[in-house]
Amino acid sequence: MHWPHFVRYDPDDFLPKNPDGSYTVVDSPTFVEVWADMEKVLEMGKAKAIGVSNFSVKNLEILLKHAKVVPAVNQVEMHPYLAQKDLKAYCKEKGIAIEAYTPSGLQHVRNDPTIIDIAKKHGATPNQVALAWNLARDVIVVPKSASEERQRENLFLPTLDEEDLQRIDGLDRYQRVCPGHFPDENGIVMGWPVEKLGW
Ligand SMILES: NC(=O)c1ccc[n+]([C@@H]2O[C@H](COP(=O)([O-])OP(=O)(O)OC[C@H]3O[C@@H](n4cnc5c(N)ncnc54)[C@H](OP(=O)(O)O)[C@@H]3O)[C@@H](O)[C@H]2O)c1
Repeated sequence: MHWPHFVRYDPDDFLPKNPDGSYTVVDSPTFVEVWADMEKVLEMGKAKAIGVSNFSVKNLEILLKHAKVVPAVNQVEMHPYLAQKDLKAYCKEKGIAIEAYTPSGLQHVRNDPTIIDIAKKHGATPNQVALAWNLARDVIVVPKSASEERQRENLFLPTLDEEDLQRIDGLDRYQRVCPGHFPDENGIVMGWPVEKLGW
């Protein structure tokens, strides 16, 4: 389940916007109802595992009150500027794997002097350091590259030592960098207020 909130779908337009730039968010089905349907898909043997994405502790708690099946995974934005330690600890306790999207932190993290310094120390690139930091804390990564060379680069990562990991942990600033995922001037992310998202 990509998001906890449900936005009007148009097969020709992934996220259709209203003329004023807003999204049409509907209250039904709720994520609890969608999850119950996903559980049926699992029961029918049509899926090996089911999971969620962009779920906070707040929304996982609501979901888990009703769920028969605990999500196998929660895919969320995670990189050195958005370490989300509380969410990570909560998911670990519940047996939910965390998968990082935008695991590099894009140019924001790649241009960070600490990341560049650690990359130089290991003869690696900043992108490799960001991915290696995620893996070192048991987070699954889904990096993306349109370049074969960078795809290969992302497969071979340095082993960071304790000092490196502590320095990178110190960069955490609860900063989202994934385009379109920051709150607008009214605190809304794709139709839901940050409070409801639990961000
Ligand atoms: N669940 C969600 O809401 C959600 C949201 C966003 C993304 N995702 C998923 O997560 C996947 C990864 O997210 P992402 O694309 O933001 O990940 P990312 O790997 O952190 O960032 C991709 C960007 O980094 C560049 N890049 C990749 N490897 C590099 C390297 N070694 N050196 C320098 N630049 C490098 C890419 O450029 P080049 O292509 O030019 O190499 C691209 O601009 C997506 O494909 C998508 O499936 C999920």
